[in-house]
Amino acid sequence: MPQKLIIDVDTGGDDAVAILLAGYHPAVELVAVTCVEGNAPLELVVRNSLAALEQGNLAHVPVYAGIDRHMHQQPYPRDPDQERRLKLPEPTLAPAAAHAVDFLIDYYLGPAGPDTVLVPVAPLTNIAVALLRQPQLARRIPQIVLMGGAYTEGNTTPSAEFNIYADPEAARIVFQAGIPLKMVGLEVTRQALVTPADADRILSYPTPGAAVAGPLIHEEVDWFVRKFGAAAGQVYDACAVAAVIEPAILHTRPARCDIELSGELTRGRTVCDFGYQFRGVAANVDVGVGINRDRFVAIFDEAFGG
Ligand code: RIB
Ligand code: CA
Repeated sequence: MPQKLIIDVDTGGDDAVAILLAGYHPAVELVAVTCVEGNAPLELVVRNSLAALEQGNLAHVPVYAGIDRHMHQQPYPRDPDQERRLKLPEPTLAPAAAHAVDFLIDYYLGPAGPDTVLVPVAPLTNIAVALLRQPQLARRIPQIVLMGGAYTEGNTTPSAEFNIYADPEAARIVFQAGIPLKMVGLEVTRQALVTPADADRILSYPTPGAAVAGPLIHEEVDWFVRKFGAAAGQVYDACAVAAVIEPAILHTRPARCDIELSGELTRGRTVCDFGYQFRGVAANVDVGVGINRDRFVAIFDEAFGG
């Protein structure tokens, strides 16, 4: 039986690849996509998500529009390269009528809730508001596997990764909820490098999945090559989906993690205490520290190679 999952996105090129990977890989069943404001305004996130699903022949997967703001009033920098209209035809699909937060609450209180992994790859606002409105969800969501955080170098600030920095208050609620949580942060995505040759190969598959995902993967990789002169690129959000498809590809260490809210230079940092035993506290997160890069790329081949 494929593992059911719901993905919470701020689509975004790498979010679109994550959606398609979840929609195409036989080891998982994509139940729904919930959208939140993040690297793009909510309306664009919904449009991009619908467009990726429609072009990928995944029109049966419902898309729910969620929250279009964050728990704080502070501005946060969006990456202008990520905040974009994906180069896909305008979707004819429409989002589902229900709000994403209502959907998450109803779904996780329903019969399939305890069998469905939640995969947020965006700011954690939808998930935090759902937990505030219905605290019982903490006992119904079996596992969260999220892309977000960094215990070494950030990308939005020296201390913080974008998804956490965009809404640290929401992230703290989710990290403290007591739900089994795997963090796929920048230390993992930086090891999951996709080369231009990998991207060429995926693009060359004569399958409907590769026709949509191939150019998106290539664009992500090309961006790293162009912007940083790198030899390969990251497809951040796909790493979290891959860690659900094949949990063994992710190497983790338990830690006590919390979110810095007030540091002048460190707001939004995921502070991960790997020596939690010395402080007499319990671990609350399995923190990703490494990934099997070759298997990660092979999972793309399995999904999009047909
Ligand atoms: O820091 C990486 C995250 O920010 C990813 O989720 C990517 O989609 C961007 O929004
Ligand atoms: Ca994202």
